[in-house]
Amino acid sequence: MTKIWRKLRWVLGWLRRRTGVYSWRICFGEKDLREPIPEVHSPLDLEVVVASPDCLRKIEARLDGEDKQDFQDGMESGDICYVAKSNGEIAGYSWVNLQTIEMAFGTIVQYPPDAVYLHTSLVFPEARGKKVFQYLSWKIYLDLENRGYRYACNLTFADNAPSLAARRNLNVKFKTLRFLKLPWMKLMVFGRPRFVLTRKNRD
Ligand SMILES: CC(C)(COP(=O)(O)OP(=O)(O)OC[C@H]1O[C@@H](n2cnc3c(N)ncnc32)[C@H](O)[C@@H]1OP(=O)(O)O)[C@@H](O)C(=O)NCCC(=O)NCCS
Repeated sequence: MTKIWRKLRWVLGWLRRRTGVYSWRICFGEKDLREPIPEVHSPLDLEVVVASPDCLRKIEARLDGEDKQDFQDGMESGDICYVAKSNGEIAGYSWVNLQTIEMAFGTIVQYPPDAVYLHTSLVFPEARGKKVFQYLSWKIYLDLENRGYRYACNLTFADNAPSLAARRNLNVKFKTLRFLKLPWMKLMVFGRPRFVLTRKNRD
């Protein structure tokens, strides 16, 4: 990137923050739980469980900044937190909301009752690159399928390559959307979250 382009981007970013204009490229992912869910093998010996209150406290204590805030939001919302443990140590977690697909600025879409929203996932740095996220997501998909859900969706920043690669390995289909937030206006989404919502002959 040239120096002048970098400077221009910096100025645009500064202007956005001053004026309250935000935009993001976000990938909307959808997993059809009726399709076969590929098995995942991690080099770590992992088990996945729903987090106990003690486990939630331990994770919260390890986090800071935005990660901590997002985690606390999950705790307050009553969502389900799944954790991956390696030899008893917490390696990562992922939250599941059984009702709506939300972002800080509001609800994106209202999903049918047999669909869920996976959000706020994190693998602690020492465990990254060992398929922990894939293993965790795989186990969550299997559990959700056993509970009778048919679709699981998620939102991922378009530049989050590891997250996209991991979910693509699990046959998640993505569509890139543009989100725009102007001051005093509701969040606008350009491009439709495809698949279930637009599928006419959904059975
Ligand atoms: C994203 C995150 C959860 C991934 O966890 P992880 O356990 O390291 O992920 P996995 O090992 O299961 O899978 C990562 C995949 O991305 C691939 N990958 C890693 N960096 C990559 C890059 N720069 N470009 C393309 N692929 C990449 C890996 O090769 C791996 O794919 P493979 O199994 O086919 O080789 C972890 O990096 C994290 O916690 N990040 C910070 C929080 C975050 O971004 N959360 C996700 C919000 S949606």
